[in-house]
Amino acid sequence: MYHLECIECRRKYRANEVIYTCTCGGLLDIVYDYSKIHITANDLKAPLSVWKYRALLPVSREPVSLKEGGTPLYRVDRVAESVGLKKVYVKHEGMNPTGSFKDRGMTVGVTKALELGMRTVACASTGNTSASLAVYGARAGIPAVVLLPSGKVALGKLAQALMHGAKVLSIKGNFDDALKLVRDLCDSEGFYLLNSVNPYRLEGQKTIAFEIADQLGWQAPDRIVLPVGNAGNITAIYKGFMELRHLGIIDSVPKMTGIQAEGASPVVRAIKNNEPAITPEEKPETVATAIRIGNPVNAIKALTAIRESGGTAETVSDAEIIQAQHELASLEGIGVEPASASSIAGLRKLVRMGVVEKDETVVCVTTGHLLKDSEHVLAVCPKPIEIDATIEAVKKAVFSDKQ
Ligand code: F0G
Repeated sequence: MYHLECIECRRKYRANEVIYTCTCGGLLDIVYDYSKIHITANDLKAPLSVWKYRALLPVSREPVSLKEGGTPLYRVDRVAESVGLKKVYVKHEGMNPTGSFKDRGMTVGVTKALELGMRTVACASTGNTSASLAVYGARAGIPAVVLLPSGKVALGKLAQALMHGAKVLSIKGNFDDALKLVRDLCDSEGFYLLNSVNPYRLEGQKTIAFEIADQLGWQAPDRIVLPVGNAGNITAIYKGFMELRHLGIIDSVPKMTGIQAEGASPVVRAIKNNEPAITPEEKPETVATAIRIGNPVNAIKALTAIRESGGTAETVSDAEIIQAQHELASLEGIGVEPASASSIAGLRKLVRMGVVEKDETVVCVTTGHLLKDSEHVLAVCPKPIEIDATIEAVKKAVFSDKQ
């Protein structure tokens, strides 16, 4: 039904091989025999969830699941008006079991690990991937090892990885260093690598596209805007829409629009300079620690997704990210972490630049929940007002201009 295929030299590998990249160094894709997949929008009437789309997922055993997916697609008219568009939606991936979109990849990836007989799972992470792997490892009953950049992981994410029992290693280096190390560790120890270089992870994440189309009545929006870090998610969502079009379920594919922080923007530079590949950044830096990545492993796939779909990529400053985070929280009641808010910040900038047209239907993907990074919230919001426990003090404070 499916096999692994190198996106560079087209070499094929059997689905049961434990391999992450081709011997030529190229990234791998899962390629299906679509002629054997018979599925129509009519077959897809079950409630939303990752496993609703099982016919398009590359595993056969009982899933390791915590009921991931089925996240809300909110229409956000106040934000739309504020950025200058008519129809904007937010796909809030922070509503997954561990509070980020990573769960979609992990339910599929950890299920695959069991199917392949792997005994330990591992990843490098800016935080969310490690939280999700720790949780799904626990659910599967197998150990998880996670490598994190020291001092740069939001506390909520670290708390999840620790409490769910992963072996948590804090690396004196950044995410890119941690990813190199964990790849070596997996090769030498036979651990199963669950970073997004593993194409099975991306298969789970492509269900974001399935759900968006499903929630819009089997139509694609004109544009998807999302944060880009290791560049897996933009690739996965593009693949999801391409598959739906291939199967005749939708008839267009949205313009894939990737947003990066100014201090960590190799994909944006490659798009703007029309280069075939990225030039890695040695010292990535941004308040959005989730996307503090200088050498995205899926960059080649992401560049293709952006170019083939007629999309684009843009940077936003940390100040723009924080403003967008406040706006989404206060105007719409949607609480997201800084990386996720970059999608809204990026959309605002692209409307201002005239790149996004006024009548486009846009879906912004908010990838992680506000509570992941509460330390950041305390740093950017006013402090609570401390008062005496008297009704006079309460009234005075309620009607004061402070906060
Ligand atoms: N948003 C959030 C909240 C993330 O955690 C990540 C990636 C991204 C966006 C970017 O997605 O890497 O597929 O381009 N976080 C990874 C991690 C790197 O380790 O949790 P991407």
